[in-house]
Amino acid sequence: MAARRYLLSSFLFLTTAFALFFTWLHLSPPPPNAAELLDCAAYSPWCSSKSYPTTLGRQSPTRRHDHSSDTPHHPLDPLTVTEINKAHSILSSHPLFKSSPFSIHSLVLEEPNKSIVLKWKIGDPLPPRKAFVIARVNGNSHVLTVDLTTANVVIRETGPHSGYPVMTVEEMNSATFVPLTSESFNQTILNRGIALSDLACLPISTGWFGAAEENRRLIKVQCYSMKDTANFYMRPIEGLTVLVDLDSLEVIEISDKGKNIPIPKAANTDYRYSAQPPNKVMKVLNPISIEQPKGPSFTVEENYLVKWGNWEFHLKPDPRAGIVIYGAKIRDPETGDLRDVIYKGYTSELFVPYMDPTDAWYFKTYMDAGEYGFGLQAMSLDPLNDCPRNAYYMDGVFAAVDGKPYLRRNMICLFESYAGDIGWRHAESPITGMDITEVRPKVTLVARMAASVANYDYIVDWEFQTDGLIRIKVGLSGILMVKGTSYENTNQFAGEDLHGTLLSENVIGVIHDHYITFYLDMDIDGSDNSFVKVNLQRQRTSKGESPRKSYLKAVRKVAKTEKEAQVKLSLYDPSEFHVVNPSVKTRVGNPVGYKVVPAATAGNLLDLDDPPQRRGAFTNNQIWVTPYNRSEEWAGGQFVYQSHGEDTLQTWSDRDREIENKDIVVWYTLGFHHIPCQEDFPIMPTVSASFDLKPVNFFESNPILSFPPNTFEDLPVCKPAASA
Ligand SMILES: *[C@@H]1O[C@H](CO)[C@@H](O)[C@H](O)[C@H]1NC(C)=O
Ligand SMILES: *[C@@H]1O[C@H](CO)[C@@H](O)[C@H](O)[C@H]1NC(C)=O
Ligand SMILES: *[C@@H]1O[C@H](CO)[C@@H](O)[C@H](O)[C@H]1NC(C)=O
Repeated sequence: MAARRYLLSSFLFLTTAFALFFTWLHLSPPPPNAAELLDCAAYSPWCSSKSYPTTLGRQSPTRRHDHSSDTPHHPLDPLTVTEINKAHSILSSHPLFKSSPFSIHSLVLEEPNKSIVLKWKIGDPLPPRKAFVIARVNGNSHVLTVDLTTANVVIRETGPHSGYPVMTVEEMNSATFVPLTSESFNQTILNRGIALSDLACLPISTGWFGAAEENRRLIKVQCYSMKDTANFYMRPIEGLTVLVDLDSLEVIEISDKGKNIPIPKAANTDYRYSAQPPNKVMKVLNPISIEQPKGPSFTVEENYLVKWGNWEFHLKPDPRAGIVIYGAKIRDPETGDLRDVIYKGYTSELFVPYMDPTDAWYFKTYMDAGEYGFGLQAMSLDPLNDCPRNAYYMDGVFAAVDGKPYLRRNMICLFESYAGDIGWRHAESPITGMDITEVRPKVTLVARMAASVANYDYIVDWEFQTDGLIRIKVGLSGILMVKGTSYENTNQFAGEDLHGTLLSENVIGVIHDHYITFYLDMDIDGSDNSFVKVNLQRQRTSKGESPRKSYLKAVRKVAKTEKEAQVKLSLYDPSEFHVVNPSVKTRVGNPVGYKVVPAATAGNLLDLDDPPQRRGAFTNNQIWVTPYNRSEEWAGGQFVYQSHGEDTLQTWSDRDREIENKDIVVWYTLGFHHIPCQEDFPIMPTVSASFDLKPVNFFESNPILSFPPNTFEDLPVCKPAASA
């Protein structure tokens, strides 16, 4: 029993992920069924319709799409189960993999060249399907291309590079067991009064801090007590860090500097609904949902093609990036043509440096995509709570460490959102004698995933609007990484730098930043685009010209080379950032474009020479523009784990290549500074930030004049059966 409890606890981290490898066809999360849905009595025929639950979507969350016969339909569609199996069998008989144990760190589509994809038309045969593979064999990383038609395997020359591939989920899991192979580790745990059966351990990437860490793949393991709470994160065994060799799974070193720091109490840390005592003071809200009497307005065709309103785009799950949007086009209301907006967009890298330079904390400088796999950490979404009832769910098809396919069910959801906002409006004052009130509700289409990278949860939304705007939003929730302390009250440490906030007795929430860097290959009406800074400048009037002394004027400057497009935002030097097609003009002569519209964000203030910041140099600016290069996809480099920072967006951009009227890629970094506060304990209410891609002289005029307003007839009211 004790052994079993121990196993359970050690497996806690990523247990969901791991379990799914083996059970994808058999197990399923408890699905809502028709009986649980509110029974509606008629105010309208729709309300009493027997098909009520299914008219809400063509697909219920209980649906189990059988992926075994999936086929790709677009050159950028992800590898299917069949294709991953094929790649696996080709690799299994390859000499490199025959003699030695190996681990597959990536097995995804190797995309055809962009020129080939752009020439491809619906109905054409697909370009040859290939797998891009990163594998480790005998302590070496290999990059391979597997041609799925010819079975040809090409081992690619990667040149010298410092880092290692994304960890596999299996490795992260194995690493958490390694400390238990050490007697002295066991002893120190017991000495602190913790039963080994109450341990929960986390695999923490080590960053990179110099020569002592060279030539082997390392990970640091830190542990928590899960006694009396599901929220073990709030019970750190402070100062205990086990350095582990990730290849040999051996303990290299144990650093034990927190022996006198108590384990914070378990009381009030559990966040589960079932663990909350009844609260007689709080008045809870009534249930709420969106109703779509005529069903949703979007369709998902050929597995990944989304059509909604005037938009068409492809959406796919990716093990490293999470959500990938490709081939996004919008229909022009005047010509009826589908016009290119985005070739490809995704989360390229994350950077999360903690602001505590002490022994057990300095290395916490996570890069969640390149180290942990942002998509690998995206868990199955919870119907009705992660996404509303009208949501459609999409599964991720990924390869496990042995190269065999597995499914991440319900990894992405897609739904129409109506938050009661207004798309556009105007009402005439009675003084005009005109009776006009014209209002359009704003309905948007959201593609969402939520990654739980150990303690933290990132919610990523791509929100499409009918007016052409795309809002990219990141929400942060989940649980803080906290530090144990002997302090129980702020009156005990006047003046001392705690590196954070005392959140509860013996618990410090450590200050940290989050940066999320997006890759945006914009193709505005074609690939050759320019980046234009439209700078607002104060212009003084000349003497006697006007009663005004100053005004603002817009000064356009086309960025000729990469360095001219490295942008640090400033409130007092404002610009708009346009991506335009200089060869396509509107009726009145403006170049068609989309602008990148920043909103609340944070700039990185670390020293440029700080080792984490060298690796995270892609956060040195909020905006960068590079010429399209299929090798420059991951802002922190292809091999991020323990990298030194020699292959980042900063290095590429500093080549200062020409970017005017060329196929360009825009990079935008969304940032958050986080000084924790008591409301973040024991779990954080979601904090969100976003930026927009917004049409600028792209359409001839407001593109949504012909979308109708809502009427009461369109939206019948249902009332619960009990009171009917
Ligand atoms: C893709 O482009 C690269 C570089 O531009 C070239 O070396 C390669 O041959 C191309 N591949 C195909 C299949 O056209
Ligand atoms: C440490 O404790 C675990 C759990 O009780 C046990 O399985 C393991 O063998 C112990 N390690 C050593 C080296 O004794
Ligand atoms: C494309 O990117 C790779 C990796 O950064 C670089 O080695 C190569 O020189 C780039 N090619 C061009 C034309 O910039």
